[in-house]
Amino acid sequence: MEIEEYARIAAAEDDHWWYRATRAVMADLLDPWLAPGPAAGPTAGPTAGPTAGLEERRILDAGCGPGGNGAGLAAAGAVVGIDVSPDALAFVQARRPGTTPVAGTLERLPFADASFDVVAAITVLYCVDDDAGAVRELARVLRPGGAALMIEPAFAWLTRAHDKTVHSRRRYTRPGLAATARAAGLTVRRATYAYSFLVPPAGALALAERLRPHATADAGSDVERRTLDPAFARLAHAERQWLRRRNLPVGSSVVVLASRP
Ligand SMILES: C[S@@+](CC[C@H](N)C(=O)[O-])C[C@H]1O[C@@H](n2cnc3c(N)ncnc32)[C@H](O)[C@@H]1O
Repeated sequence: MEIEEYARIAAAEDDHWWYRATRAVMADLLDPWLAPGPAAGPTAGPTAGPTAGLEERRILDAGCGPGGNGAGLAAAGAVVGIDVSPDALAFVQARRPGTTPVAGTLERLPFADASFDVVAAITVLYCVDDDAGAVRELARVLRPGGAALMIEPAFAWLTRAHDKTVHSRRRYTRPGLAATARAAGLTVRRATYAYSFLVPPAGALALAERLRPHATADAGSDVERRTLDPAFARLAHAERQWLRRRNLPVGSSVVVLASRP
């Protein structure tokens, strides 16, 4: 990811509508694993429920960036943020006291088997060379009964300049990301799209960038585009009520919630 993008994300992630909405979706989906009460320990068996055991809950923010989304989980347990970028980890160190920063790659996580209750990978796998290997690692460090939440950009045809700024390798479909989770040995509990209302504007931007690459050359960061924030925040709020009960057939992100058997 380009270094300036970490500073842009760090400046925006506390109040930007997308980050706020994403933290709300994370909280909704992970609620059974994050609800107050004792967390399951690494030795909990396959039949352990979301809140079995006695140890403090351990949460991994995989590819944490400047750390804002993972920090949203800090009230529920001890958050470890791992990232390959020292620039990202410097922001975590300076701004997120509830998160322990760790340098490393998702493809080779420096953690013991079954050492986390919850793993979140938010807009990360699309930047990773070996995404299938990374998801296998996420599954390995998850304790039996623990939850992995992945939220990744959807649909190759929505690729835009922002993808280049964050060094994106790919975008996902719902069946594709769910299949990657299953191949890693996880049980898929939810697989849906999100941010359905972003598909028309993101599609229009992608098309405009393809038709007029020079005219849109400075359009490399989504977090600085704020004009429609109030409208998007309202739409995200409404969509979240829907997502609490049902899946969406289209959206600019893919969401997969899985657990380790
Ligand atoms: C688009 S940012 C997302 C950051 C954060 N998860 C969020 O929600 O704001 C992607 C992050 O993944 C990190 N990353 C990319 N490839 C990685 C890898 N193989 N291992 C660990 N981190 C990686 C990048 O350094 C970057 O901080």
